Amino acid sequence: MNEKLKWVLNQHYLGKDNVNQVTDLLSHFTLEQVRKVGQFQCTYEKFEKTPLHYLESLASFIGVEKILIKDESSRFGLNAFKVLGGVYAIAQYVAKKLNKNIEELSFEQLKSPTIKEQLGELTFISTTDGNHGRGVAWAARELGFQARIYMPAGSAKERLQNIKNEGAYAEITSMNYDDTVRYTSQLAQKNGWVLVQDTMWNGYEEIPLWIMQGYTTLIQEIVEQIQQAPTHVFLQAGVGSFAAAVVAFLTQYYEHDITFVLVEPHVANCYYESFKAGTNEFVSVGGDMQTIMAGLACGEPNPQAWQLLKAYTKVSISCEEEVAATGMRILGNPLNTDARIVAGESGAAPFGCFYEIMTNGRHGQLKDTLQLDSDARVLLVNTEGDTDKENYRQIVWHGKYATL
Ligand SMILES: Cc1ncc(COP(=O)(O)O)c(C=O)c1O
Repeated sequence: MNEKLKWVLNQHYLGKDNVNQVTDLLSHFTLEQVRKVGQFQCTYEKFEKTPLHYLESLASFIGVEKILIKDESSRFGLNAFKVLGGVYAIAQYVAKKLNKNIEELSFEQLKSPTIKEQLGELTFISTTDGNHGRGVAWAARELGFQARIYMPAGSAKERLQNIKNEGAYAEITSMNYDDTVRYTSQLAQKNGWVLVQDTMWNGYEEIPLWIMQGYTTLIQEIVEQIQQAPTHVFLQAGVGSFAAAVVAFLTQYYEHDITFVLVEPHVANCYYESFKAGTNEFVSVGGDMQTIMAGLACGEPNPQAWQLLKAYTKVSISCEEEVAATGMRILGNPLNTDARIVAGESGAAPFGCFYEIMTNGRHGQLKDTLQLDSDARVLLVNTEGDTDKENYRQIVWHGKYATL
């Protein structure tokens, strides 16, 4: 049987005051940059902030000062945070083609027939485990462009259908996530389509960076909504773009050091394995990476995210499926007047790990290392709602992946 949690201390940890190695990357995540992104996102006529919940009863039950959860399950009506990246990257791409700054353009202007005439037909292509592709398909449809979305083997039919419902061409391939990314990149080159991928590699940097910047809108909202800065932030990682964007902004925004903890599933734990190797370069993991945490099923880190997460992550955790499942059940069944949070598999994984650390005496050393005590104010992001409704019911109602 697999261990529920494995963890490793990051030997490369630099802390807040030692930013030289990542100064260039940090410059894309300053308050000024983040405001610029937020200003564009708000031009969408139905834009609404997502809620930040204080789970007070749960915090006193578990023994920390605060548990704060930013709930992204209602973002743009799409059940996950991912659209923030796709829509911002597409808008930046169009702005660049028009020789304009994003500040000069609104969502509505991008939809205008004059702009379509100037640009002609554009097709955006991407690989996804569900959420990113749905966001790209949504943004393309809203703005009047085409989208083609490819999913790795084993992807949920419901997630495929959600993408088709946005008017995109979509299919499930027979490859794993990383191979599907390579395949879509080739298709883009061959057909002149625009690749909107949420990870980067040599020669493909601009769009992934815009995607990471797009995510910062949720962090800007958090720092506006929060009453007191967090001491700990637990973040889920697939390729690590999301976690790196959060870390890059919060590190600059707050004066104190924050303890950042990364969370991945055992079968796709490329950050955990990289920190364990202790080398300067990351290591990749392969295989079919079947996990209920589909959004985290990536075996190769985004190299820029790796630079940032290597500098600021304290501890990296790899977890068993049942840890995420327990997180989903607890968040969906709150104590007293705490808010009910419908958290999908990838959304609940960090909370599941946090709960496991706090309630299972076997993790005493990890709890002490992280100083998770009655002064801790722990921030988490529910990055998705029930994006696979059947699996949600199986887990929450019928006890799939329950610990007996
Ligand atoms: C719901 C959800 N959470 C977290 C992530 C992880 O984001 P990243 O791949 O940038 O690490 C994803 C990625 O698709 C996701 O869909």
